[in-house]
Amino acid sequence: MGRRSLPRVDKNIELGEYLFSLSDFTDPWTPFDLFDRPAELEIEVGSGKGLFLASTASRLPDADFVGIEIVHKYARFSAARLARCGLTNAKIIHGDALALFTQHLPTDRIAAVHVYFPDPWWKLRHRKRRIMNDAFLRAVQRVLQPHGELHFWTDVEEYFQRALEQIRVSTQLDGPRHVEEAPAAHDLDYQTHFERRMRLHERPVYRSCFRKLGFS
Ligand SMILES: C[S@@+](CC[C@H](N)C(=O)[O-])C[C@H]1O[C@@H](n2cnc3c(N)ncnc32)[C@H](O)[C@@H]1O
Repeated sequence: MGRRSLPRVDKNIELGEYLFSLSDFTDPWTPFDLFDRPAELEIEVGSGKGLFLASTASRLPDADFVGIEIVHKYARFSAARLARCGLTNAKIIHGDALALFTQHLPTDRIAAVHVYFPDPWWKLRHRKRRIMNDAFLRAVQRVLQPHGELHFWTDVEEYFQRALEQIRVSTQLDGPRHVEEAPAAHDLDYQTHFERRMRLHERPVYRSCFRKLGFS
């Protein structure tokens, strides 16, 4: 299913508190530094239009949320959404998730990692670009806190099965736990924009949740 064009971001919206670039940060730096309080931190990989970040951060004000998005115009779009909601517990970083996870996330500290509808890279020769790879998953295993969770959803059954096998090989995470489909109470009551599109088109969604059992 192709992507639609993105609406323009209102130039009057101040994005300074919401939009960051991974390339601006030098060691020692972690995403915890983006918030001025100690709180549990959850990371979303590939935030797209930012629906998950905005709705979940609004619902869970006691936790902090960071999205990492490799395409700048999507990161900007998500930042504008967070700004419009006036959220103080959610930020978006423009950059590559693998670099964030391998270089900037401390061990045993992240409450949850969310990976929703990652790019499937359909062509065989492009599959190595898939984010659910050995290096990324080893980093997920390292950074999650005890009882921390990895949430992975996709509409691509082949990617789902391969990723589950890769999680088994690359991590000691407990799962997969089955995740029930929740009924939508309104037009934006979906985990992400991609989930909304798949469900409105009556396409299947494969959902899984894994849990880290102890310290690294
Ligand atoms: C298919 S879209 C899904 C967006 C959103 N998660 C959703 O479900 O609506 C995948 C997103 O992941 C982003 N992405 C792909 N590779 C990435 C990477 N290495 N680091 C961060 N974001 C990435 C893409 O730019 C895109 O916005």
